[in-house]
Amino acid sequence: MKIGIWLCGAILASLTLNALASENKDVPNLAANQVLGIGEVSFKRMVQPILHDYCVNCHEPGGKGYEKSGLDLTSYQGLMKGTVFGKVVIPGNSESSTFTKLLTGTNNGLKMPMGLNDTGTLDRQYILLLKKWVKQGAKDN
Ligand code: HEC
Repeated sequence: MKIGIWLCGAILASLTLNALASENKDVPNLAANQVLGIGEVSFKRMVQPILHDYCVNCHEPGGKGYEKSGLDLTSYQGLMKGTVFGKVVIPGNSESSTFTKLLTGTNNGLKMPMGLNDTGTLDRQYILLLKKWVKQGAKDN
């Protein structure tokens, strides 16, 4: 009987762990130095999965980021359209693009993704990847 209960617990625990592990399965698993070695960053294969896992929750119709700013991160068109106040991506310039500026520092007290963890900062390789994509012209590739 005791073993039965223990087994149940172990199975439940592994199911939970699997669920947690698969939550981020869409994001390419790259180390920072691999990012530097990528020739051209693909929106569809690399940028969109990151937005999907870390941003879309709030930045789709009904989400609080979308409701407050109008920024829809479910598609390339939405990202390029920007917020109700204007564009957040300036192709070729990751330093002036709000989209990438907000990932490393605050802009009017805002930092994205909001409330992600204690530091509220994406993993470095994802930040590098998003910046590189903007620098390369923010293409729909
Ligand atoms: C927990 C919810 C949440 C998540 C997750 C989130 N955002 Fe936001 N985002 C918001 C809210 C709320 C605003 C509007 C803030 C305001 O205007 O006060 C916003 C606004 C923005 C803006 C516009 C800021 C401006 O000054 O115009 C950008 C760009 C942005 N988010 C990018 C992102 C990116 C990129 C991600 C993922 C890496 C992300 N957000 C994840 C909630 C979120």
